[in-house]
Amino acid sequence: MKSQRIKKFNLFESIEDKERLSKSVATILNTQIKNELQSSQIYRGMSCWLDDSGWIGASKYYFKTAQEELSHMDKVYEYLFSRNTQAKVPTCVEVKQDFKNIREVLEVSLKHEMSVTKNWEDISDLAKKEGDNTTYEFAQGFLKEQIEEEEKFRNLLYKLDLEMPDWKTDELFEDLMK
Ligand SMILES: [Fe+2]
Ligand SMILES: [Fe+2]
Repeated sequence: MKSQRIKKFNLFESIEDKERLSKSVATILNTQIKNELQSSQIYRGMSCWLDDSGWIGASKYYFKTAQEELSHMDKVYEYLFSRNTQAKVPTCVEVKQDFKNIREVLEVSLKHEMSVTKNWEDISDLAKKEGDNTTYEFAQGFLKEQIEEEEKFRNLLYKLDLEMPDWKTDELFEDLMK
């Protein structure tokens, strides 16, 4: 597309074609598109196992969480578009779809969210190092959200320790969606 424009107007590179992100920032953000898609797939896999295991409320909650992860992914696409930088569609990854119990689901979730926090910290660090203030600001929004994402799963794990009946535990997930 861009090369066609350059040919048509006989330009070397016109100002409007200039990519506004560095190669390294573009690469790390494209990797984050894949990470957010992976998050969605992970939670979708958990939702399937939960539904199959009779955790109906928890399954619904995980399904909704998977959808939210897709909206995170879309935000990264839109940011790349707005900075005139090419986004890349990642390939889907295989995810775990079998779990020992609900505790394992929650432990894997918390561990995963902690790794996503690290992803956004790396993006933030790179942006800071390159003096890319817009990407730095963009990453701060996600880092702020990661505090809640981690807390959600940590609190559910604490509540599991209270050893409530299963139906009551399942209700906790439904309450989170209200
Ligand atoms: Fe996310
Ligand atoms: Fe998340």
